[in-house]
Amino acid sequence: MIFRKLFYTAVLVLLFVFPADSSKNVIALNYPVDRTVMDFDLMGVSISVAQDSADVIIVVVNGQEQLRIIPDSKFECFSVHLKYGENRIDIKAEKAGHQAGSIGFSVFRRSDLESAYTKPPDGFQKDFFHSKDRVVCSECHELMPNDADRKPVNLVTFNKAVSSGDRKAVAMASTCYSCHGKITSSYPYVHGPTSVWSCLSCHSSESDPKYGVVKPDTSICFNCHVEQGKDWRAKKYIHGPVNTGKCAICHSPHASYYPFNLFKPVWDLCVTCHEKNASGRHIIAGYVYGDSHPTKGVPDSIRKGKELTCASCHNPHASDSPRLWALSAGSAFALCQKCHQK
Ligand code: HEC
Ligand code: HEC
Ligand code: HEC
Ligand code: HEC
Ligand code: HEC
Ligand code: HEC
Ligand code: HEC
Ligand code: HEC
Repeated sequence: MIFRKLFYTAVLVLLFVFPADSSKNVIALNYPVDRTVMDFDLMGVSISVAQDSADVIIVVVNGQEQLRIIPDSKFECFSVHLKYGENRIDIKAEKAGHQAGSIGFSVFRRSDLESAYTKPPDGFQKDFFHSKDRVVCSECHELMPNDADRKPVNLVTFNKAVSSGDRKAVAMASTCYSCHGKITSSYPYVHGPTSVWSCLSCHSSESDPKYGVVKPDTSICFNCHVEQGKDWRAKKYIHGPVNTGKCAICHSPHASYYPFNLFKPVWDLCVTCHEKNASGRHIIAGYVYGDSHPTKGVPDSIRKGKELTCASCHNPHASDSPRLWALSAGSAFALCQKCHQK
């Protein structure tokens, strides 16, 4: 009796330490590597799945299911959305209701805008996709840009590019589309050149790392936004981040959930760096009446149909007054009068 019990216990222990073939991993990660760093909220993933080994692949990001895929090829490619900071991605393969395999990895989404996430923790580092030969991927994907990718786009030719055919056809003609398609399709607001897949207006295949973008951002943004460049540079005062050329700290060069391709709604964006101005106390602190002024949640008295926000009173880019008054106001008092006539 006792021996038999011991025997079964031993078998159980062995099974636990050396799992049987059926629970051997049936999925392998092709891209990315563990502990990589991303700058935006979208990341491409490619896995291999052993033939007929799974009915469904479940992708869990930070404990929440993001995707369910029915595998139909030895390669499965998809994109996941990331939050700021460290993300945990777990991919599980299921066969007949049982787990047939799993893999997991971490990725850090950094951001210049979020002071808590400007630097990845130790052990995380950037793994530039295009700086290596990706022989496996080129089996199915075209990794050399074609003529459609190289078409130049500026504010004049943009409208032509858009009207030259439907956007889907324009997108599909780009080699970048097969892997980066979700960069435009996942968001309601898409930046002009990105919407017509003129990726190479900003990303050069000659730069190092490959497709790296010239810094500061102003050197690319003002190529097309010529008027803004002239106008803002002529102003006496330029907003801190604009002055240091960091347009893409507030605007996504690709696409976003908010108007003007901003990374956040205007009020949230401003308050990320100017926390103490959120309450609106600063607006009337110098006056005898009242102790606070709304900064959101009420209609803007001037810009009809819009909500009052920080940008109702401050120009986010440049102005002739040090406090960056909007509405061409020359003084704080003149600013008040724009909305409070008497
Ligand atoms: C066996 C063919 C094959 C190979 C090899 C392959 N892919 Fe794909 N990949 C595809 C197909 C087909 C699609 C389109 C899937 C779709 O539209 O549903 C795709 C789509 C993608 C996407 C976009 C997924 C999405 O939904 O956003 C990414 C990213 C991607 N592949 C990356 C890679 C990388 C990286 C490699 C190399 C490690 C690779 N692929 C190798 C066939 C392949
Ligand atoms: C085989 C699929 C594939 C194709 C085709 C492809 N990319 Fe990528 N690219 C990736 C993956 C995967 C990454 C990793 C980051 C991510 O998921 O966004 C990446 C990253 C990048 C990066 C960040 C730098 C780097 O190397 O990690 C840039 C910029 C970029 N791609 C631009 C382009 C442009 C422009 C094209 C078209 C000329 C293109 N890509 C075509 C898969 C692809
Ligand atoms: C208006 C300029 C502009 C255009 C157009 C543009 N990009 Fe970018 N892209 C940037 C900038 C700026 C960055 C950030 C790079 C940096 O800070 O080093 C970037 C970064 C990226 C990254 C890296 C993402 C990460 O998480 O690290 C990918 C991938 C990418 N771009 C793909 C594309 C693709 C595909 C297209 C075309 C559909 C495109 N871009 C069009 C300016 C642009
Ligand atoms: C290749 C030319 C090109 C480059 C480079 C470029 N843009 Fe644009 N941008 C456009 C076009 C075209 C539009 C769409 C204009 C329209 O809708 O009338 C646009 C629209 C915008 C808008 C929205 C304007 C609105 O009124 O809704 C913002 C914000 C913007 N760009 C910011 C930037 C920033 C920031 C950069 C640099 C990272 C940049 N752009 C680089 C061509 C460019
Ligand atoms: C501090 C954040 C911030 C920075 C940095 C920034 N912007 Fe903006 N930008 C905004 C906001 C907010 C709006 C929308 C303003 C509104 O609601 O009227 C905007 C609007 C725009 C518009 C459309 C309206 C217009 O004035 O033409 C363009 C184009 C634009 N920005 C380009 C740029 C460029 C180019 C740079 C870099 C030189 C830049 N932005 C830097 C916050 C920023
Ligand atoms: C990425 C960080 C960042 C963001 C986002 C940001 N700012 Fe600023 N802002 C700065 C810096 C840096 C300065 C210059 C240093 C200073 O005076 O504090 C500045 C200065 C200012 C000033 C002038 C301060 C003075 O002393 O006169 C005003 C007004 C202002 N910002 C308003 C805004 C508004 C409105 C928004 C949103 C559209 C915004 N900021 C978003 C970083 C930011
Ligand atoms: C109704 C108009 C109005 C609105 C809305 C407004 N401000 Fe101001 N802001 C002012 C005035 C007036 C001053 C000058 C205060 C002074 O000099 O005593 C100022 C000054 C500032 C300054 C520089 C001085 C300081 O107190 O730091 C910053 C930064 C600033 N505002 C940011 C913001 C941000 C961020 C928002 C949105 C959360 C915002 N403002 C909303 C009117 C406004
Ligand atoms: C862009 C338009 C705008 C500007 C500029 C502006 N205000 Fe206002 N102000 C408003 C709006 C909108 C309200 C809210 C009215 C409501 O609640 O219906 C308001 C409310 C107020 C209130 C009442 C606050 C309360 O809690 O009921 C005072 C006091 C006030 N503003 C003073 C000022 C002063 C002082 C200035 C100049 C430093 C100024 N405002 C600039 C739009 C503006």
